[in-house]
Amino acid sequence: MKKTILTGIKPTGQIHIGNYIGAIKPALELAKNEEYRAAYFIADYHGLTKIHNAEKFRQLSYGIAAAWLAFGLDPSKVIFYRQSDVPEIFELNWILSCFASKGLMNRAHAYKGIVDSNIQLDRDLDYGVNMGIFSYPILMAADILMFKTEIVPVGKDQIQHVEIARDIAENFNKNYGEIFVLPQYEVQEDTAILPGLDGRKMSKSYNNTIPLFEESKKLQKLINKIKTDSLPPETPKNPDSSILFTLYKEFAPPFEVEKMREQYLSGIGWGKAKKELFNVMDKYLEEPRAKYNELMASPKRLDEILLNGAERARAVSAPFLKEIKRKIGFGV
Ligand code: ADP
Ligand code: TRP
Repeated sequence: MKKTILTGIKPTGQIHIGNYIGAIKPALELAKNEEYRAAYFIADYHGLTKIHNAEKFRQLSYGIAAAWLAFGLDPSKVIFYRQSDVPEIFELNWILSCFASKGLMNRAHAYKGIVDSNIQLDRDLDYGVNMGIFSYPILMAADILMFKTEIVPVGKDQIQHVEIARDIAENFNKNYGEIFVLPQYEVQEDTAILPGLDGRKMSKSYNNTIPLFEESKKLQKLINKIKTDSLPPETPKNPDSSILFTLYKEFAPPFEVEKMREQYLSGIGWGKAKKELFNVMDKYLEEPRAKYNELMASPKRLDEILLNGAERARAVSAPFLKEIKRKIGFGV
């Protein structure tokens, strides 16, 4: 039996090169492994905790789908779907919520983070918290447990959520026997955390991103905005502390990286370093960008692919949900 590996990305912002290097690229590598059955999805109901504008939401969801496909996700191999097209996940969400203690949710870091900042700002504790944010980890547990997932590749910030999914599964299994598989997270330790334009972690929350499919001219403009120091061109530079070099490493072939490292050590002007970075990134992204634009221009095609994926997902989720409902005493 193949092991199920599953991950989701929520459509809450324009996808950036940090998301690609940290999430999409390693997940696509894992999907090539014949030992795995991969299920990757657009976590749109998770996105609804934040985005309340229909047109924007639709575009963001299509954007995530097109990004996966543009980088080579093969929908005939990977089960690729939109969470909202698989209603069994929501039935399971309710069932699981009856096995998740409120205390467990109180400790979940996204909710706790909002409460902590409300305390600091002397606001009502629950200011800005909708119930979707509060019970977010339960829906994530439903995503994972519905497909008997063994491995969940995620960023470090999501480890706690996978642990919560395990806790909920254990709680359920204690009552009804070994129904759910206990999932494990897999953090790609060697995956770089890409810095953004200002040197902090690239994140849509910091407004410092390089969107993945920016057209060449805009890409160049953004690269020109990357923060550098004021060392003169001939001064030797430390490649390992340079944002430009960190980004360069991800997009250039290894022998070019070595050559560039030497150029830094012997002195390179920031203008030149930026130009070289633009050249490798633009080349790397050229083909995926064209594919992305083509897909974004045909939402019908995207819907078709995603609905097809949802059908395959439901072939797994529908019978399993029936089994779960039988266990809890619904129907025969
Ligand atoms: P953001 O920080 O922009 O809100 P998300 O939290 O939605 O991004 O992250 C989606 C995925 O992309 C996660 O798996 C996360 O670990 C990864 N990711 C986000 N930013 C980076 C980054 N700067 N470098 C590497 N991976 C990242
Ligand atoms: N919560 C994840 C994030 O913010 C997205 C997500 C939703 C997810 N459901 C999932 C990730 C299930 C892995 C498995 O990045």
